[in-house]
Amino acid sequence: MVDSVLSTLLAHDKEVGLTTTQAIESAKAQFGEVLEQQLQRIERLKREGDWTDYASIEPITIGMIGGDGIGPTISDETRRVLQHLLRDSLEAGKVAFRTIEGLTIENRAAEMQSIPDDVLAAIKDCHVILKGPTHTPERGDGWPNLESANVAMRKELDLFANVRPVQIPSQNIDWTFFRENTEDLYAVGSQGVNVTDDLAIDFRVITSQGSERIIEAAFAHARRTGKSKVTVVTKANIVKTTDGKFLDMARQVSESYPEIEWDGWYIDIMTAKLLDPQRRHQFQVLVLPNLYGDILTDEAAELQGGVGTAGSANIGKRYAMFEAIHGSAPRMVSEGRAQYADPSSLLRAAAMMLDHIGFPDLGGRLHKAIDICGQYERRVLTTGRDTGATTQEFGDYVMSTVEDASVEDRWQEYVAGDS
Ligand code: IPM
Ligand code: MG
Repeated sequence: MVDSVLSTLLAHDKEVGLTTTQAIESAKAQFGEVLEQQLQRIERLKREGDWTDYASIEPITIGMIGGDGIGPTISDETRRVLQHLLRDSLEAGKVAFRTIEGLTIENRAAEMQSIPDDVLAAIKDCHVILKGPTHTPERGDGWPNLESANVAMRKELDLFANVRPVQIPSQNIDWTFFRENTEDLYAVGSQGVNVTDDLAIDFRVITSQGSERIIEAAFAHARRTGKSKVTVVTKANIVKTTDGKFLDMARQVSESYPEIEWDGWYIDIMTAKLLDPQRRHQFQVLVLPNLYGDILTDEAAELQGGVGTAGSANIGKRYAMFEAIHGSAPRMVSEGRAQYADPSSLLRAAAMMLDHIGFPDLGGRLHKAIDICGQYERRVLTTGRDTGATTQEFGDYVMSTVEDASVEDRWQEYVAGDS
């Protein structure tokens, strides 16, 4: 009896053993490809050029991408506000707008590409991109399970710094997150391996070059803006190899910034401490790998008033792309409510773009107008339905606020009154 059980088991093992060997060999081949791609990428990183100097470009071409769902509605409105603000520079030929069509889920599915080739070429022909939300496919949602257009664009244009500021002046909160944007679980998130029916493996990529440049950007930002502290967030006690490298790079980079204090936090306790009123105002500049940054910045934006209130800057040395941090809200469109979408997040992204391309005064005014309209005065409210203002009415409100010569004072008053 025992013998027969044993021999059945052995036979089973043998059978599984064969397929197991094949499964392992096939997984190794896929892993090998990933390694090759990443080592080639590192060589490209070593050769990366200098930062774009927007002051030397004329006209600066701003590519507008509508995207999916409510994207075209909020993008059109943002363009209207921007064209109004930039009217002198537009007339003088210092900036130009260009519409980039085709980054819709329908076209991506038809072309079976995350970013169709012609769209990518048009994007690369611009200096800076303002992008509405694009639908991110997921297995079973009815669309081909393509890589996210956001992620593909960040990688294609090497937009390694995802900069997300969150401010709550009344609570003395002024955080700037530097989320690494091209590596970690996102780098090859669509190239995981189903080794067998039961075993799925994804790959996490952290490189010295990739870590160094984002940490360097965070420290440089701290120095430039007079901040005294950088906080590095990892889980290096558990994810020892990759997070360990990130933390090692932080130690190394910090040596060039002796005047800036830095500390390391684990992502779990950091998630908790963003809620701790005793502690949270102490954080200033935070730098972290991609996925931790994705999660923590949603939490931070929610504290500021919701993900719809935050903008996101995706910055590389050559290109930059600015976007809303929320999704495309397809339900609003199917229910006929697109015209009531709140454009605040994309307007915020537009303000960040103005700062980045050399119009900090206009950017500053737009930031303040968005705060006044969305957070403080709130004379025109969007609710996402016909109970509230339309996207255009809100845009008009923001435009008239930006134009008000006393926008600065109004903002100061609100902030002072709130604290
Ligand atoms: C973000 C979003 C994206 C991300 C999605 C839409 C791919 O959540 O910008 O934070 O995961 O990075
Ligand atoms: Mg996110």
